[in-house]
Amino acid sequence: MKRNKLIVLMLAFTLTAALALAGCGKQQNESEEPAETETETEAQTEEDSVIDYLVLVTHDNPLPDGWEEALETTTITNSVGDKVVVESKAYEAYCALKEAVEKDLEGYEKGEVRFELDSAFRSIEAQQKIVDDFTEKYGEDYVRKYVAVPGYSEHHTGLALDLYFTIDGKDVYENEDLVQYPDIWEAVHARLPEFGFILRFPEDGEAITGYAYEPWHIRYLDSPEIAKEITDSGITLEEYLKNAE
Ligand code: DAL
Ligand code: ZN
Repeated sequence: MKRNKLIVLMLAFTLTAALALAGCGKQQNESEEPAETETETEAQTEEDSVIDYLVLVTHDNPLPDGWEEALETTTITNSVGDKVVVESKAYEAYCALKEAVEKDLEGYEKGEVRFELDSAFRSIEAQQKIVDDFTEKYGEDYVRKYVAVPGYSEHHTGLALDLYFTIDGKDVYENEDLVQYPDIWEAVHARLPEFGFILRFPEDGEAITGYAYEPWHIRYLDSPEIAKEITDSGITLEEYLKNAE
């Protein structure tokens, strides 16, 4: 590798790591533990390791081969102590989104709202564990509507983020509790496009996406313009990609 290229890569690594460390942790209350972060950068050593931020992974569309090798990720620890791995640009965008929506919700009647990441990147094994746990907890019908078959979840891309939140420091974490706060989700959804995200499984999208409404599941597209186009026209990612063919 040429020396200049190596220096550029090292600088990029230092910058990325610094951003990750400064990331959402900086926006938390000083009394709270800052989020633990670490960044894997090996993937960035190859020039052609660029991921497709518009990739469609869903029913009948498995994760493309070689995806994980090209993925740069950031790992954080959330408020319930789980490690969450996220594609690094999506993580930076999430931090900006979190800051904006938390500000919008200042003065919220039920208390101070702080957003957290429940889950982002998942391995095939992790997705299988969710299928198993949710089948036991909610039953097969629920799983068909809410959980992808391993290999066909966009969580494998690292670009799908499941959010939850705390209110006055108390975790609101389970799906059945999260849906009790439509006003909070409205505030989140209103801000998604400007940070390059869409609501992936909207309320009336089940016939097209194949999944029921998931207010917590957002998808990073790395393009506020495309996210805005999809949101403003009230279509799904499937429809946008079909129109663009
Ligand atoms: N909840 C979404 C559909 C997934 O499991 O990927
Ligand atoms: Zn999800």
